[in-house]
Amino acid sequence: MAVSVIVDYPEAFSATCIKRAAERLLRICDLSSKELNILLTSNEKIRQINEKWFNRPWPTNVISFPMDEPGELGDIVISIDKAREEAEAGLTSLRNRLIELLIHGLVHLLGEDHELGPEHAKRMEQKEFELRKRLFRRDLMADLCINVDHVATIRQARGGVEPDPVVAAGIVELAGADGIVVHLREDRRHIQDRDVRLLRQIVQTRLTLEMAATDEMIGIATEIKPDIVTLVPEKRQELTTEGGLDVKGLKQSITEAVKRLHDAGIPVSIFIDPERDQIEAAARTGAECIEIHTGRYADAPDEDSRDREFELIVEMARFASDLGLRVHAGHGLNYQNTGRLAAVSDIVEFSIGHSVISRSVFVGIEQAVKDMLAIVKGH
Ligand code: PXP
Repeated sequence: MAVSVIVDYPEAFSATCIKRAAERLLRICDLSSKELNILLTSNEKIRQINEKWFNRPWPTNVISFPMDEPGELGDIVISIDKAREEAEAGLTSLRNRLIELLIHGLVHLLGEDHELGPEHAKRMEQKEFELRKRLFRRDLMADLCINVDHVATIRQARGGVEPDPVVAAGIVELAGADGIVVHLREDRRHIQDRDVRLLRQIVQTRLTLEMAATDEMIGIATEIKPDIVTLVPEKRQELTTEGGLDVKGLKQSITEAVKRLHDAGIPVSIFIDPERDQIEAAARTGAECIEIHTGRYADAPDEDSRDREFELIVEMARFASDLGLRVHAGHGLNYQNTGRLAAVSDIVEFSIGHSVISRSVFVGIEQAVKDMLAIVKGH
């Protein structure tokens, strides 16, 4: 599937939501293998297109151009200006109106045409209603969970009590994040047992505990009961989690760990590299979720390799999603490289730590979280 969205508009405009919506719609319609091009533009641009192709020199809200080529669905052009006017008149948000227009354009590409008469109009309206209903069954935008380990790193530098990651978690939630993540390491280099216990009491969104699949950690998790555990590999000498878990090689021990956590009522995610056989192995353990290690994408030395890593993540996220796994992503994501991934509809959650905590030194943690939320939610 390839949805490409081009924004040709005088002001900055985030297309994240439209891209996610379009990808999901193609999926709902079983058209994931088709290509769809979307242009989000101004009244003036859509007026020019109307004049050129239909001899009507005025702006309309949406135009569809079906394609005859196999593998291509067609093009949809939407006027952001018109959508905004209609949103204000209809008391809805611009985002909702754009999605309504996207659905209208898509149903046209599927061969329906309301202009052919009342029966056609009724059928088209019904199809649009069905698609809207199915699209909004789940929240359209990805969740953002903030890892507060590095607040604890600063505390541990002096071995005192400040700054407290538990206080940080409260502010992160107030800023609007969807969850809090901590990694309780075997060497307790940042997060301490006391932090996890207190966080369990105060976190009102969702608490994710990252941990190695050891007896000690499984014991702690089953007692504290985080909302979800993410199993990660752990080496004492590493600065941070350097690669995904080798689920394929450690099949038996990981499957056992997943079972023990499930027995305690805790859902499990597994942190893995974007590789097909690791994803298949993760699915076989019974885990409900994977987190794709985005480190190779984030650290790519040049644009070409970054593009390749991005495409691989897109493909593997789709593959995992088709296997019925929830797909999370994280590691090395920052204010420059997250936007592109945020538009990938198969990724339903981001786990981000270092860049947000670093930024908060300068702008405060609340602002740093809000800046990242704007990227992930596309507003
Ligand atoms: N996800 C997992 C599983 C991790 O181990 C880490 C690093 O602690 C992150 C996400 C967050 O990575 P970063 O701090 O680079 O944003």
